[in-house]
Amino acid sequence: MPKLDRRCAYYTESKEILGLMVRLLDVKPEDRVFEPSAGEGAIADAVLSAVLPSEFILSEIDARSAALLSSKFQGRCSVFCGDTLLSSQVDELKGKIDKIIGNPPYGAWQTQEKRQILRNKFPDSYVKESYSLFIERCITLLKPGGRLVFIVPDTFLYLNRHRHLREFLFARCCIEDVYLFPSKFFPGLKFVYSGLCIINLKKGRNNEMLCRVHSGFKEVTDLGCSSESVSQIPQSDLLFPEVLRFYANAPVLGDEASVVTGICTGDNKRFIFSEPDEGRVPLAKGAGSKAYSYGIDRFWILWDEEAIHHYKTDKKARFQNRTFYFREGIGMPMVKSKKVRAFYMKDKVFDQSVVGIFPHQSDRLDYLLAFLNSDAADRLIRTINPTANNSCNYLKRLPILPCSENNEHRIGDFARILRQEKISASERLSLEAEINAFFNRLYRF
Ligand SMILES: C[S@@+](CC[C@H](N)C(=O)[O-])C[C@H]1O[C@@H](n2cnc3c(N)ncnc32)[C@H](O)[C@@H]1O
Repeated sequence: MPKLDRRCAYYTESKEILGLMVRLLDVKPEDRVFEPSAGEGAIADAVLSAVLPSEFILSEIDARSAALLSSKFQGRCSVFCGDTLLSSQVDELKGKIDKIIGNPPYGAWQTQEKRQILRNKFPDSYVKESYSLFIERCITLLKPGGRLVFIVPDTFLYLNRHRHLREFLFARCCIEDVYLFPSKFFPGLKFVYSGLCIINLKKGRNNEMLCRVHSGFKEVTDLGCSSESVSQIPQSDLLFPEVLRFYANAPVLGDEASVVTGICTGDNKRFIFSEPDEGRVPLAKGAGSKAYSYGIDRFWILWDEEAIHHYKTDKKARFQNRTFYFREGIGMPMVKSKKVRAFYMKDKVFDQSVVGIFPHQSDRLDYLLAFLNSDAADRLIRTINPTANNSCNYLKRLPILPCSENNEHRIGDFARILRQEKISASERLSLEAEINAFFNRLYRF
């Protein structure tokens, strides 16, 4: 194995990633700052170009890199050459640091001997994935109220082997932001199974903590821009998606309904219009105007013989799930908005920006429509998948808890009234509140 790979010496050269991390860290001149795996100083450079803290300590295991850091940052940083996870010099920083920033090694190669030492020091942790040890170690170095900003793989958020780390974070910290993005944003990296994330946390517990999950980034230049999608979820849901295990034996939406995406024309400019005309039929595309109802039609799709032949045969088009077009069902926009909004759909084609939900028992449609628009479903959806997309596979996993027939009819009736839009705004609010209270009770939120 090349020496660089053994140490996981991938340096943070992306100015967007560095810019965002430094902004989140928010270093003040009076701060004592620590970087646990400083490499050749790319992150330190970015911090110092924003502000000169009262003390800046860099730690690095590789002697050559440490020497380089010493000469590069002479007078501005002190450099520890040693193993951040084990060094007694670092032990002395416990509880004394205001801000920690880093790109720790993700799975640095270790001898069997070193692994055993790490197991003794971090008995509950998964020592093969070094980044989780760096998170744990560095949190102990922070003062109460101190801040840590790291770029790490996103696996600690969901893999079972990182459960201890999640419990550790939950007991000691408030995770304020998580930015989720593909590993290819990081120059030189491409994980097959996981993405990367920037985590911004503050040391100290707060039971009410809501975490901002930022996702939906297409390019690295989108990081920290307003085009991102942000959802706020309780920290407990972020760290313990196991909440869903309470409902482990319940049927899921995928058992109760066909959950499918719609057509892709392959050339929307040619086939989709904003006005009706001969040969065009209404199309559900994106979100409705409000929850429950799609509102007035805004799109029409060409639906003559030639167009249909194109949808069926063109390489870029997908005439998928065609038996569901025009049927009565529920639409959900593929891209999440602040609050999930499901709408009643009938006599329309729907495209791939919509997930179509077609209950196997049609008399359950309005009850499911109410559930999908409830706060409880919103919370469950964001727990199953905190990223920006409502893809079919995630929605299929929503637990559908049984309730009495009476309640199912009552809630279904409310949804029918809401989708028909023949009520005042205040009546609408009170029906929505009743629906939310009902599902909160049912799901014990
Ligand atoms: C992923 S690089 C990051 C470097 C730098 N922070 C950056 O982003 O440009 C990880 C660095 O951690 C160092 N490293 C690996 N294990 C370490 C340990 N146990 N203690 C301190 N540094 C370590 C490696 O030598 C390497 O320079």
